[in-house]
Amino acid sequence: MALSCNLNRYLLLMAQEHLEFRLPEIKSLLSLFGGQFSSNQESYGKSPFWILNIPSEDIARNLMKRTVCAKSIFELWGHGESAEELHSSLKSYPLEKMVPFLHPDSTYKIKIHTFNKTLTQEEKVKRIDALEFLPFGGKVTLKDPQHIFCILEDYGLNPNCIPEKPHNIYFGRWIADGQRELIQSYSVKKRHFIGNTSMEAGLSFIMANHGRVKENDVVFDPFVGTGSLLVASAHFGAYVCGTDIDYNTVHGLGKATRKNQKWRGPDENIRANLRQYGLEKYYLDVLVSDASKPSWRKGMYFDAIITDPPYGIRESTRRTGSQKEIPKGLEKCPESHVPVSLSYHLSDMFFDLLNFAAETLVLGGRLVYWLPVYTPEYTEEMVPRHPCLRLISNCEQKLSSHTSRRLITMEKVKTFENRDQYLHLLSDHFLLYQGHNSFREKYFSGVTKRIAKEEKSSQE
Ligand SMILES: C[S@@+](CC[C@H](N)C(=O)[O-])C[C@H]1O[C@@H](n2cnc3c(N)ncnc32)[C@H](O)[C@@H]1O
Repeated sequence: MALSCNLNRYLLLMAQEHLEFRLPEIKSLLSLFGGQFSSNQESYGKSPFWILNIPSEDIARNLMKRTVCAKSIFELWGHGESAEELHSSLKSYPLEKMVPFLHPDSTYKIKIHTFNKTLTQEEKVKRIDALEFLPFGGKVTLKDPQHIFCILEDYGLNPNCIPEKPHNIYFGRWIADGQRELIQSYSVKKRHFIGNTSMEAGLSFIMANHGRVKENDVVFDPFVGTGSLLVASAHFGAYVCGTDIDYNTVHGLGKATRKNQKWRGPDENIRANLRQYGLEKYYLDVLVSDASKPSWRKGMYFDAIITDPPYGIRESTRRTGSQKEIPKGLEKCPESHVPVSLSYHLSDMFFDLLNFAAETLVLGGRLVYWLPVYTPEYTEEMVPRHPCLRLISNCEQKLSSHTSRRLITMEKVKTFENRDQYLHLLSDHFLLYQGHNSFREKYFSGVTKRIAKEEKSSQE
């Protein structure tokens, strides 16, 4: 009770992209900065307007230094379902909270933001004029004012049914913008070293935020590829390292991914990617190594593991092995110790990943990874579990009508003991996800195309 009295109300204006990823991002960041999410705040759904109770403006500012899912935050002075309701709510906002921003020697401006409707200039002026009862003492300045206030009107989510009057109107003092511009400034289109599966900038930052990556952390990506996830983590001040089974990727050799270029250039590698953004000091190293056989010594701890394992669609799921692991009769030279490449079933890969994270994360550290799923067969029970890891969030990104990938975030909640590594084999989750060994086959076999075709003809 005492806590809620100390909370101030803020309005978050969310971006209308990656909707499912927004709540876990904001929750993760708030928990990183000492804010909390109360349960009655969980029903935001698809709306871009979220009211948050946060203990201090500092926490609100820290949140905005990290979020890519939110556009702006405002200190909420009033809210209503009509102009009258908004005005009476503003009249009951404590004067002492307004006064510091309404001084006669200050400058200010009032902006209008509408969602799902465009207002004429005349309509905008009318709304601003209607606020004359507020004791604004300062001078209006459009360029670089000290304080910015905003009227935000919500006309709902349906562009085919725009109401005459807004469903909700908010008025607040602008505090800060989020980090949406990172999506452009870190775009893979302008990145030095890229590959077929380089993760787009927006999702890379979202992953680092779900992973609560912070300054001076050590972040590891066992399927590092071209290092997009390391770039995002380093941007937030973490030291980064990774491994990949592919020698050419780690050493920046082989064929280029860009259309007009045949071979990778001399300095096309992950270190150069970090250098491009002034982040080279955060580069620890990247190694050629097979994630199924981690080569770390015991007692090695990471603050976060953020990764995008292969799904076998644009890159193969392989692991190293020896001739001995090849079924009898198929081996070429039984005595040889030369490593061979064996196929790496998806379920084995994810359970290896969970075991590795359970063993090498610090307590409270997070594992963030993508799980590919075949949507007609997906159930939440399929998501791999581990006795040392608590599931924090599970967000879907659709890839096609029948496939999607889910961003899974887990937190280490228990110290790893040797017996933990086999417990998952007894769980139903393991058996359920084994079905996904066939994800690749289903993707290529045309099952997805056939179902889509059947659905289309049944709708006709
Ligand atoms: C989806 S890509 C990662 C892309 C990366 N996030 C990026 O932005 O470039 C998966 C990577 O896993 C690597 N890989 C496949 N099997 C592996 C294994 N057994 N151990 C380590 N890396 C593996 C592939 O070579 C590929 O680079």
